[in-house]
Amino acid sequence: MKLREKGLFMLEDMTEDFEEIDKILKKHDYSSNSLIQMLIDFQSKFNWLPKFVLYNISSKLNIPLTNIYSVATFYKFFNLEPRGKYSIVVCAGTACHVRGSENLLQRIVNILDINPGDTTDDFKFTLDTVNCLGCCALGPVMVLNERYYSNPSTKQLEKLFSEVK
Ligand code: FES
Repeated sequence: MKLREKGLFMLEDMTEDFEEIDKILKKHDYSSNSLIQMLIDFQSKFNWLPKFVLYNISSKLNIPLTNIYSVATFYKFFNLEPRGKYSIVVCAGTACHVRGSENLLQRIVNILDINPGDTTDDFKFTLDTVNCLGCCALGPVMVLNERYYSNPSTKQLEKLFSEVK
């Protein structure tokens, strides 16, 4: 596990990262009008938006840091905390709730020992809930690595979590 995925940065990593930051800024012609698209690209690159990236954008594009934070916090899509390599999303919408999503969520919480919104200590998984995944007939539903699972058992979950590398 690289330290940067834990929110810790070594000087060598940061030098490498600064080159990546410049590439992304250049791709968008250093234009403040492309801030959202840039943030999307930075998040794709780092899996979250580290502070030093936001500081860098601010100083290079001459955008007040508070403006960048306003955008980054307005959209739920952006992560200002390190995330796990794999995302687990459990649907807590009405149809899934009626079909037992709380039990599914509890099984995952028990296995990974994290609550919704948290990331495992090894930064492998981040667990979230949403209000509908658009496939209510399959409920209760969980998504892991963009794959949908209908009401997986504890055994199935343990197998799935141990299989991802
Ligand atoms: S309520 Fe769960 S997928 Fe729609």
